Amino acid sequence: MDGLVYVGGTFRPAADAAISVFDHGLLYGDGVFEGIRAYNGRVFKLERHVERLFDSAKAIRLEIPHTPAEVCDIVVEACRQNGIADGYLRVVVTRGAGDLGLDPRKCPRACLIVIARPTLSIYRAASAGIRIVTSTFRRNAPDTTSPSIKSLNYLNNVLARIEANDRGADEALMLDGHGYVAEATVDNFFIVTDHALMTPPTATNLKGVTRETVMALAATLGITVEEKPFTLFDVWTAREAFICGTAAEVVPVLSVDERVIGNGAIGPVTGRIVTAYHEIVRSQGRSILPAPPVGEVVAGDRV
Ligand SMILES: Cc1ncc(COP(=O)(O)O)c(C=O)c1O
Repeated sequence: MDGLVYVGGTFRPAADAAISVFDHGLLYGDGVFEGIRAYNGRVFKLERHVERLFDSAKAIRLEIPHTPAEVCDIVVEACRQNGIADGYLRVVVTRGAGDLGLDPRKCPRACLIVIARPTLSIYRAASAGIRIVTSTFRRNAPDTTSPSIKSLNYLNNVLARIEANDRGADEALMLDGHGYVAEATVDNFFIVTDHALMTPPTATNLKGVTRETVMALAATLGITVEEKPFTLFDVWTAREAFICGTAAEVVPVLSVDERVIGNGAIGPVTGRIVTAYHEIVRSQGRSILPAPPVGEVVAGDRV
């Protein structure tokens, strides 16, 4: 690994970037994280991701030793330090170094880590569509570790992904404890019915930033969106389906459990959402370029 990683308050060469073996993020999965993308020299939805990071931290009573504005600045600086205009950013906050024994009071200070990489590939041939299977592992119930918390506890999703790998599929679809569709292992899930774009309410899945973006884009495209619980029957009989997330973007789903969705090709609604998403991520976001010194005239300014 090359590049510079922010850890322990400073940027270090990736090979030397390390945390304590007594960090409770490692020992107990006690921490939270975000995955963010940069496109064309801008960080897309940076403030929204950092807001969700702080919400996740609040939910687990973890005090991040920075303000949201400081975390945003460090993320942008990580892009600059690594020369990244297009890439993937991982922000992790661990409970910090303590001792054995899970009581968080053993950890006096949380640890912020920011990793900036040029790419992150999740699915082979994502743009052509993927095949998914329903996992036997259920998504965490909202009264256990809430799926709204983007925590370092991903074992239930990891097990679902292993199951998908074993079955030769690209991804797993996870149900909630009542058998309703929840989400994929690192993505939210949508279907297209005869009258609307539909996704489950977020009680059983992550409040995905891409999910929010897709819903807003659908509204501007005149596509009706419904948030309501649905079952595998609705998936089998859907006209189209896709998953979405920051790393994956919007990925058409062509089959679920070997059942072909629609006619097995990328549908028109999914196609429009893919195109609109592609455009919005490349046209909005916090600039990575340093702000020009006060008083300096930048190209395009009129004097
Ligand atoms: C479980 C889960 N669901 C959904 C998503 C998609 O969320 P976002 O669009 O904010 O990246 C992720 C992203 O990592 C995830 O881990």
